[in-house]
Amino acid sequence: MSTVLDPAPAPAPERQRQRPSLADPDDRTKRHSGEVRKLTSLLEVSQALASPPNLKSAFHRVLEILERYHGTSRSVIALPREDGRRLYLHASVGIRAPHTDAPIGGSLAQQVFDSGRPLVVPRVSQEPGLTARVDAAPRHARAPRRGLVDDDDLTYICVPVQQSRQCRGVLEVELAFRSDRNYDRTMKFYGVVGSMLAQALKMQTFIEADRQRLVNENVRLRDELRERYDFSHILGTSGAMRQVCEQVVQVARTNTTVLIRGESGTGKELIAQAIHYNSLRARKAFVKVSCGALPETLIESELFGYEKGAFTGAEQRKKGRFELADGGTLLLDEIGDVNLATQVKLLRVLQEREFERLGGTDSVKVDVRLIAATNKDMEAAVAAGSLRQDLLYRLNVFTIFVPPLRERKSDVLLLADHFVEKLSTDHGKQVKRISTPAIDALVSYHWPGNVRELQNVIERAVLVCDGQVIHLHHLPPTLQTAEGSGTANSQSLGDAVAGFERDLIEDALKMARGNRARAARLLQATRRIVNYKIKQYDIDWRRYQDADGA
Ligand SMILES: Nc1ncnc2c1ncn2[C@@H]1O[C@H](COP(=O)(O)OP(=O)(O)OP(=O)(O)O)[C@@H](O)[C@H]1O
Ligand SMILES: [Mg+2]
Repeated sequence: MSTVLDPAPAPAPERQRQRPSLADPDDRTKRHSGEVRKLTSLLEVSQALASPPNLKSAFHRVLEILERYHGTSRSVIALPREDGRRLYLHASVGIRAPHTDAPIGGSLAQQVFDSGRPLVVPRVSQEPGLTARVDAAPRHARAPRRGLVDDDDLTYICVPVQQSRQCRGVLEVELAFRSDRNYDRTMKFYGVVGSMLAQALKMQTFIEADRQRLVNENVRLRDELRERYDFSHILGTSGAMRQVCEQVVQVARTNTTVLIRGESGTGKELIAQAIHYNSLRARKAFVKVSCGALPETLIESELFGYEKGAFTGAEQRKKGRFELADGGTLLLDEIGDVNLATQVKLLRVLQEREFERLGGTDSVKVDVRLIAATNKDMEAAVAAGSLRQDLLYRLNVFTIFVPPLRERKSDVLLLADHFVEKLSTDHGKQVKRISTPAIDALVSYHWPGNVRELQNVIERAVLVCDGQVIHLHHLPPTLQTAEGSGTANSQSLGDAVAGFERDLIEDALKMARGNRARAARLLQATRRIVNYKIKQYDIDWRRYQDADGA
């Protein structure tokens, strides 16, 4: 009865002969245990396909399960590659030296793949035309079959690995020939295994597509970040800021530890980012740890990670920021707030570039460029005993001092204009510029919160401004009463109106480049009134003659 069945079961009379009678209790028991074996193996197959991320090893395990439960003497999973047509060996059991990933050209497997229909050869020995084709791998490569002598006959089954009519590969098995085997049922069983393999492949394709999407997005975001933090985004034409930028250039391409010092809001983090995104590590991670924001009990687990069971709640191993920054840069922000015990550990990482996770004994080696930032007086902290001197030495290799904004007044206007443009766009406003009195107030203010405070002041002004120009009264009271703003006591209605009037006239004069007649036209007032007000408020209109009124 050696015929190729494609995909039909054995001829009906023969099948009837083969089928055990259900009335016979012995046969029933045999049949029952066969079903249990099939179900158990299917359960194990689904578990094997569900667990590991590596599909190749999962497929190998599936073939081992088939061998264990169903005595397959040889089994192969073949999948197509690039062109989606030609089959390659992907996983196998029972082949002594499997040429994994070797093409399987012209085999029955290819025929099943092309047609999407299963195929069975009940007795390989009686199909001389097929014997050669059955063996995808060279015959000498086949392992001796367990429990079978070489001339024992074989049954060959090949099913498509397919789901929803899409054929993704084939599953081939060889079984010992048994005359009472029900080929229809056997083929259906392997068909189920094939569709489970197809489902796993489909999931793998989804996961891979998703992973690729994330990788692409990651690359795009990193490029975007690199652009955002290149030097052009560190604004400042003052000598002090130019010097800072020169230092960034000098140190960026090295692996030197950098300590950035400066008052709060001066732009330390921006500078740390500029160093990273202009370094050779730009394509790797930039990880920031705000040491001051983390409670003492958490800082070590955040920095170094922990092993499973290191403490209550540590249900699985977690990587610390040092590990996450591997290959890239780690910014230890507010380093001055780190406790003494953690300082000792940091010192070791700085010296040896290795550490242990909490609750672990294995040393973890990392390649991390360290940048530390602080607004604290580090020397005073050493004197007070809250900072280890050796840690300061280690960090103090290359120090960049970022000057406070009050010491670089020439940057105030540049930064203010930049923030007006940016925040106006962000908030969908039409604000275009800042009036002269408001500029005077901004420049004369002492900015204890530095650039961050300036940014907040401009954001508030942009939000409350309903025209195109930020006027003095759009600034917070602390700035309006600032020395030099000329509105120190403008609390009464009369003073507020006078301040506003003065503001409008100065603004018009600026736009008219000191031309009083044109300023009057802009204000829709007469020249006489404007001249009167200029005299009343003691406005120096000549000052605007050379100014850029745009
Ligand atoms: N030179 C600059 N050019 C443009 N923006 C700046 C500049 N300096 C600071 N900023 C902006 O000011 C804000 C504060 O800067 P940053 O967070 O870097 O300050 P910091 O020194 O780290 O402050 P802190 O000590 O409080 O952490 C950020 O939004 C930053 O983009
Ligand atoms: Mg900061």
